[in-house]
Amino acid sequence: MKKALITGITGQDGSYLAEFLIQKGYQVHGIVRRNSTLFRSRIDHLHTVDESETSSFLLHYGDSSDGTNIARLIHQIRPDEIYNLAAQSHVRISFDMPIYTVDVDALGTLRLLEILRSIDWPTKFYQASSSEMYGQTTVATQNEETPFHPRSPYACAKVYSHYQTVNYRDSYDMFACSGILFNHESPRRGENFVTRKITKAVAEIKKGLRDTVVLGNLDARRDWGYAPEYIEAMWMMLQQEKPDDYVIATGEAHSVREFLAEAFGCVGLNWEDHVTFDEKFLRPVDVDMLCGDASKAKAKLGWEPRTKFKQLVQLMVDADMAALEQGQ
Ligand code: NAP
Ligand code: GDD
Repeated sequence: MKKALITGITGQDGSYLAEFLIQKGYQVHGIVRRNSTLFRSRIDHLHTVDESETSSFLLHYGDSSDGTNIARLIHQIRPDEIYNLAAQSHVRISFDMPIYTVDVDALGTLRLLEILRSIDWPTKFYQASSSEMYGQTTVATQNEETPFHPRSPYACAKVYSHYQTVNYRDSYDMFACSGILFNHESPRRGENFVTRKITKAVAEIKKGLRDTVVLGNLDARRDWGYAPEYIEAMWMMLQQEKPDDYVIATGEAHSVREFLAEAFGCVGLNWEDHVTFDEKFLRPVDVDMLCGDASKAKAKLGWEPRTKFKQLVQLMVDADMAALEQGQ
């Protein structure tokens, strides 16, 4: 049985990736942070009573800021594949917590790469890079050759991790891949990212539980895809003969305003009657437009997005409506 180690397993992507790998027959090990509660809503359904060495799903306490603990876990587990998804992943919050963000999102990757350099078995490494690295780009659709112009502490940290991944691959012949993923969303998306914030509000407004949602910049354009399809691409990258970097995107960009119109439209409401503005949701600088060109992933991995913008919005609104009906 192949072993995969996932950092960030409690997050949106980590939870979908864990499900996907278990279905593929992997033994999945996840690193979780110590919290005051054991509530881990996205992965609770994966728990089994079997906590023996042969269980398909095992969790370990750890933190990307603690290299000795991660090293001990890696030597104990001896994973075949490592997916580094752990991050302080909120761009605006990275302006409030730049040092912490860089410690986890940049140095956390370097700590892992340093451990992998010294192990004596072959391991494949996936780094969760981001379209935020393109930042204030002037290129209409961004691909693997597009220069980076990061616009936040988060994006700067991700650029650092991207280049270290490439550098360790080149320097030490490691199987290390950087997946440059554009925004991907789902009903498991954190509630303070704009898409989920909107779909949750739409459901609550439709049910009469509130009347407004407060937002920041409505003009930003993003390339929004469906998360369960994006985690498949991560796995595909590690199954290739040679390690490489890939853009994963839909190739379609929409503004926050368009997302609002579509989401409120799903329940027959006009967004302009329910959206107010607060500058606290603005960033010191924002990224105006991101739109990815995933032709390399299509040609080499055979990966293509299946869920289009309208379907994505509909499925997220439906899930938030259903959750309310079930009293969640
Ligand atoms: P997410 O939902 O915010 O999940 C982040 C995960 O990282 C959580 O499991 C979190 O644990 C963990 N984490 C945070 N700080 C940690 C630390 N110090 N030590 C160990 N674990 C820590 O993010 P996501 O949307 O799944 O994204 C996964 C990865 O892809 C991230 O690296 C993100 O930056 C990157 N990415 C995401 C997108 C996107 O659109 N979703 C696009 C490009 C790249 P807790 O549950 O304990 O907080
Ligand atoms: N979060 C949030 N909250 N964003 C808002 C709001 C609001 O109330 N109002 C407007 N926005 C705008 C932001 O200013 C931004 O331009 C856009 O909506 C998207 O914001 P987020 O959903 O927070 O996502 P992001 O694009 O900044 O970052 C996400 O995608 C990156 C990939 O490009 C995160 O998942 C990152 O971790 C990921 O790397």
